[in-house]
Amino acid sequence: MKAYVLTAFGGAENFDLRDVPAPNAGPGQVRVRVRVRAVGINPLEVKVRNGWLRDAFPTTFPAILGNEVAGTIDQLGDGVDGVAVGDRVLGFVDGGAYAEYAVARPAALAGLPDGVSFESAAALPVAAEASQRALALLDVRDGETVVVNGAAGAVGSAAVQLLVRRAVTVVGTASAANHDYLRGLGAIPVAYGEGVVERIRAAVPSGVDAVLDVAGKGFARDAIALRGGPDRIVTLADMEAPALGIAFAAGNPFALTAETLPPVVDLAAGGGFAVAIDRVFPFDAIPAAHALSEGGHLRGKIVVAVA
Ligand SMILES: NC(=O)c1ccc[n+]([C@@H]2O[C@H](COP(=O)([O-])OP(=O)(O)OC[C@H]3O[C@@H](n4cnc5c(N)ncnc54)[C@H](OP(=O)(O)O)[C@@H]3O)[C@@H](O)[C@H]2O)c1
Repeated sequence: MKAYVLTAFGGAENFDLRDVPAPNAGPGQVRVRVRVRAVGINPLEVKVRNGWLRDAFPTTFPAILGNEVAGTIDQLGDGVDGVAVGDRVLGFVDGGAYAEYAVARPAALAGLPDGVSFESAAALPVAAEASQRALALLDVRDGETVVVNGAAGAVGSAAVQLLVRRAVTVVGTASAANHDYLRGLGAIPVAYGEGVVERIRAAVPSGVDAVLDVAGKGFARDAIALRGGPDRIVTLADMEAPALGIAFAAGNPFALTAETLPPVVDLAAGGGFAVAIDRVFPFDAIPAAHALSEGGHLRGKIVVAVA
């Protein structure tokens, strides 16, 4: 099969497109093999590629990165039931997603309706799972006011949509170029950077009940100023924030389940939810996809189509 392998920590030039043996759903593994049709590119993979997370994610080279896919099941391992060869699925593979085939635990995959394209589906799993995991920690109640820092990205825009559906007032931070986009999602847009606390207070004078930080970049202290302390602030991105008493919504990308995905997939199939796709790249352009992700100013998700 074709796969993009990473040959060493460093820049995107360390990716190499190679022919490698396809993985199998081997005996005793209770795994399925997925024919990958589209892959979501995540900032985590850029951080792993750079070697920034080498302690948390030990990597043996050559390595195939990525864990968020949409595709079809093409092989069942021993002990697997409830799914069939040919089923359309989305979710999390065991790693090795930048390839034509990858293996997955059945519990990490959800069914994909015919009406949702593989590319749209590949944008959903991480955004839907991470946003719901973080919002569950925040324990948001209907009618509250919540700030989402980094609201225009994949995870942030998913959180905005899930909150707006619950009649929550959402203030979303983004650059000016994304303010109309955030308004379209139902959020009140505010520019991030110097003065953000005052701008948020002006936008919601009655106060902020909770803060979801998806961007980090020094927002932790602003969030504490808005809340008057670290209570009901959750970050998905700022590893320094726990030192200030803020909760980090940790997740192991290789042990995720798909249990949060079906309601979001149903909404997506009905047109009530979408993670915007900033750009779709062909498979042979994965290094360019990483370079765009590294720029850090996406509207939604980068997806790679696997022909
Ligand atoms: N802990 C977990 O389990 C978990 C899971 C998923 C993701 N994450 C992390 O969450 C973060 C976001 O992931 P993602 O996939 O949503 O990323 P993404 O789509 O690449 O997010 C990019 C967004 O960040 C915004 N942004 C850039 N600088 C900002 C700043 N200073 N303040 C506020 N927003 C800013 C950009 O808005 P503009 O274009 O308007 O500048 C852009 O929309 C990443 O660090 C990722 O690793 C963690």
